[in-house]
Amino acid sequence: MDRKEYKIKLISKEFLNSDTCYLGFLCPDIASKAYPGQFVNISAGTVFLKRPFGIASVDKENGIFYIGVKVVGKGTSEISSFEPGLMVDCLGPLGKGFDFEGYDTIILTGGGTGVFPINFAYETLISQGKNVIVCEGFRNASQVILNKPSYILTTDCGDCGIKGTVIAGIDTIDISEPSKTLICCVGPIPMMKAVASWASDKNMSCLVSMEQRMACGAGICLCCTVKVKDDGPDGFKNVRCCKEGPVFDSREVVW
Ligand SMILES: Cc1cc2nc3c(=O)[nH]c(=O)nc-3n(C[C@H](O)[C@H](O)[C@H](O)COP(=O)(O)OP(=O)(O)OC[C@H]3O[C@@H](n4cnc5c(N)ncnc54)[C@H](O)[C@@H]3O)c2cc1C
Ligand code: FES
Repeated sequence: MDRKEYKIKLISKEFLNSDTCYLGFLCPDIASKAYPGQFVNISAGTVFLKRPFGIASVDKENGIFYIGVKVVGKGTSEISSFEPGLMVDCLGPLGKGFDFEGYDTIILTGGGTGVFPINFAYETLISQGKNVIVCEGFRNASQVILNKPSYILTTDCGDCGIKGTVIAGIDTIDISEPSKTLICCVGPIPMMKAVASWASDKNMSCLVSMEQRMACGAGICLCCTVKVKDDGPDGFKNVRCCKEGPVFDSREVVW
C-alpha cells in the first residue's frame, strides 16, 4: 500500500502576501520520495477532512518539504494559523506527477497557487541541467509570488510584466522543435484549457494538473473524478484525480 500517514512537525512559516503563506514541514520520507506534481493531504486543525496541496519544494538534505497555502475557506484559514512546532497529520506524497522524459525543453506555466508545484518542477529540472522556461501569470502585482527574474511574467491588468494571460507570455517563446518540447501547466481550469489548446495548435505535448475537490486523497472515496477520453460507448470514463492524476495529458482530458 503506497498510502502513508505521518505526524509531521511544522518548522517554518512565512507570509508571501496578504493571504498566502509558505510552510515548511519536517518529514524526511516525504522530502526524499516526492517528485514534481505530487501533493500532500494535510489535516486542517478542527476542520473535517484533510486538504490537498501541491509540493512546492523539497530540501532532501534536511528532510524538509514545503507547501504554499492560499486562504480561501475554513481549512486553509486554520492551516495558515498553524505556528511552527505544531504536529500535523499528513498523507503523502500522493498522486502521479509530471513525466518529463524524452523532451529537450520543458516550458512550465503556472497561475495563482499553481506556481507552487511549478516551483518544485523548476528546482528539480534545473538540478538535472535541463533546459527550462517558466511563464507565470497573476491577476496583478500584489498577487505575484515565488517569481524569479528569469521567468516570463504576465498580469491580467498589466501593472507588472506582460499585460494579459499566460498565453501572451508563452506566445513570446520561440518553439524551434515542438516535438521535443513539453509544456506543463498548473492553474485554474480556463487557464489550463487555453494552454492545452495553444499546445495542440503547435503540435506540442501538454501536461495539466487538475485540482478537483478531494476528500480521502488516496483513491478510496471517488469524490475527485476527472473525465478522460475513452473508446467505449460514452466516449469518456471517470478516473480519480488523486490516484490516476493529478497530472494528465491535456489531450486525454474531457474539458
Ligand atoms: C492536487 C491539488 C493541489 C492543490 N495545491 C494547492 C496549493 O499548492 N496551494 C493552495 O493554496 N491550494 C491548493 N489546492 C487547493 C486547496 O486544496 C483548496 O484551496 C483547499 O482544499 C480549500 O479548503 P478550504 O477548507 O479552505 O476551503 P473550502 O471551504 O473547502 O472551499 C472554499 C472555496 O474554495 C473552493 N475550492 C476548494 N477546493 C478547491 C479546489 N480543489 N479547486 C477549486 N476550488 C476549490 C470551493 O469551491 C469554495 O468556493 C490544491 C488542490 C488539489 C486538488
Ligand atoms: S479524493 Fe478520494 S478518491 Fe480521490
